Amino acid sequence: MEVAEKKEVNAFKKDLIAKRNQQGSLIPLLQSAQDSYGYIPEKAIHYISEIVNIPPSDIYGVITFYAQFRLQPLGDNVIRICEGTACHVNGAKSILSVLQEELNISVDETTDDGKFTLQSVACLGCCSLAPVIMINEETHGNLTAKSLRKIIKQYKRNNKGEAKQ
Ligand code: FES
Repeated sequence: MEVAEKKEVNAFKKDLIAKRNQQGSLIPLLQSAQDSYGYIPEKAIHYISEIVNIPPSDIYGVITFYAQFRLQPLGDNVIRICEGTACHVNGAKSILSVLQEELNISVDETTDDGKFTLQSVACLGCCSLAPVIMINEETHGNLTAKSLRKIIKQYKRNNKGEAKQ
């Protein structure tokens, strides 16, 4: 475990102690666990269950109810495809098909090798570049099937982070 990761997990453990016997602490503890681990692992659910006195099965129910919570870690690269109106009109559907074909996953899934997670969003705020995707913090606009395949290829080659030319 890396030092930064250890610090984060310690923050979660401090929250567990601080929230013991406190009413309404389930959601804040789930948020703390996700901030610490990047998702909510099974062991965190069991820790939380003991603190809030709610069975793990009920906690799973809460996690799956809220879209903000994840039971799996995100991939090294998070791809957000915009399916807002401008992007939809400019071919977001075919962009999504290319992504699904290239990565062999659907929206809200992560590739088996943990390199990519695919998410869908309503608008990325740069509609004039439609169709648009974001990979991590980088925006890619005016996409065509060809340019998108090229970008994905670069990310696959570079493993993680920015696609280098
Ligand atoms: S609709 Fe896609 S960026 Fe706004």
